[in-house]
Amino acid sequence: MRDIHLRRLFAEDPRRGERMALEAAGVHLDYSKNRVSAETLRLLLALAQECGLAQRIEAMFRGERINTTEKRAALHTALRAPAGSSVLVDGENVVPGVHAVLEAMARFCQSVRAGHWRGHTGKRMRNAVNIGIGGSDLGPVMAFEALRAYSERGLRLRFVSNVDGTDFAEAVRDLDPGETLFIVASKTFTTLETMANARAARAWLLAGLGGAKEAIARHFVAVSTNEKEVRGFGIDPANMFGFWDWVGGRYSMDSAIGLSTMLAVGPAHFRDLLAGFREMDEHFRAAPLARNLPVLMGLLSVWYVNFFGTQTLAVLPYDQYLKRFPAYLQQLAMESNGKRVTAEGDPVAWNTGPVYWGEPGTNGQHSFYQLLHQGTLVVPCDFIGFCQPLNALQDQHDMLIANMLAQGEALAFGRTADEVRAEGTPEWLVPHRVFEGNRPSNTLRLERLTPAALGRLVALYEHSVFTQAAIWGINAFDQWGVELGKALAQRIIPELSGAAEPSGAHDGSTLALISRYRSLRQPRGRD
Ligand code: F6P
Repeated sequence: MRDIHLRRLFAEDPRRGERMALEAAGVHLDYSKNRVSAETLRLLLALAQECGLAQRIEAMFRGERINTTEKRAALHTALRAPAGSSVLVDGENVVPGVHAVLEAMARFCQSVRAGHWRGHTGKRMRNAVNIGIGGSDLGPVMAFEALRAYSERGLRLRFVSNVDGTDFAEAVRDLDPGETLFIVASKTFTTLETMANARAARAWLLAGLGGAKEAIARHFVAVSTNEKEVRGFGIDPANMFGFWDWVGGRYSMDSAIGLSTMLAVGPAHFRDLLAGFREMDEHFRAAPLARNLPVLMGLLSVWYVNFFGTQTLAVLPYDQYLKRFPAYLQQLAMESNGKRVTAEGDPVAWNTGPVYWGEPGTNGQHSFYQLLHQGTLVVPCDFIGFCQPLNALQDQHDMLIANMLAQGEALAFGRTADEVRAEGTPEWLVPHRVFEGNRPSNTLRLERLTPAALGRLVALYEHSVFTQAAIWGINAFDQWGVELGKALAQRIIPELSGAAEPSGAHDGSTLALISRYRSLRQPRGRD
């Protein structure tokens, strides 16, 4: 396929656009602008079969311990299983527990939203600050932004993640502590950044409310799997919303980690979100591989990484509400599939996860699309758009969608030198104005950005990432690659401020960097 142009594929088959499109679970995927033939798809599906994809999908849904290095199931799909269904982990049905937490979350959110939940000084909560990082932040932020149109505007939501004190300071600078609720979201409740920010929040609250320790119970709730640490921090376990070790951080936005989402949009919308996830789960589990949206998207990603040597994949939502969706997908895809050994521990003999990146359209068009169209790298693109706007301003939604469609068309078909000449372009300028084309893209369209639509979209990418991992034979559910940096940072922290100069344990570069920082570091008194 390397030498076959999309122009030729479309010329040979005028119905390609209809034939290479699929609609399921409310998502329409046009994959015709990919550099594939029917034969390519047949071979990719054969590869999926050879890799046991169907069996792996079943193993995930059945709760087998597919996260082998952590000896855990990866059961985010159980988070959206309907009440009354059964998913067994070690012989125990986990679905009733999932729904019990959802009900506790709903009770809490209703009481805050209705103003029944009062702060220490008797005021109702007008602000909620989610403190978390990674999966305990990116999903909640992304969902809050995506579903803003459905949110309770009288409740201000903020998110603090970075250990940089600026993040916390700017998030609370205009808030009244008496009206502020903190949600400390951390699966482990030991994460450096989150615990530092949670301590800062506790100090800020106590300072603002005259040091009354009882205030903590009215202003702090926790989302975690670690009750002991939650208690140790001073949060009443009655104000803790739990989840389970079989929910990976980057797969947790539909667990209690979504408490801020539910607070913003209310329990009914949160349930719609879960229903959307579930629709895509059911499709992924039941549809034949050849008519399976996440499977096709996953296989296409493998195709470009392994057969065209592409290293990145751009996700380009044509919807401002999805502005944090690419950032969310970065953790989902890259923490999952950034692996260099197989699940058995052998070095892989092929490339694995690509870099996911992107910005909402049309902004990206005025920034990096130049490279997409005329650079030397091929970047497969996912365009995402909705047919109905949530904010219809005259014909601006048509302009938005026209731009999305135009980009896919331009990438695929480009503009030849002859076409450029025919426009009267002087010869010396022709090479600069040629668009080679043959640049692949998917176009994903949904009717309208609703909570259910968001659930479908997220589940689609979750399962696409899973499909890729199954082909590459890697474990998508561990993240050992984040450990080394964390451990080294713990060693360096005291060395930056200690009395004695650090020595020995570091390389020359790191040592010199530490020394220079020490010499310029602001003395504590001036913090
Ligand atoms: O550092 C990576 C990571 O473990 C992510 O996988 C996770 O989402 C994030 O840290 C936060 O972890 P926790 O929810 O335990 O604070």
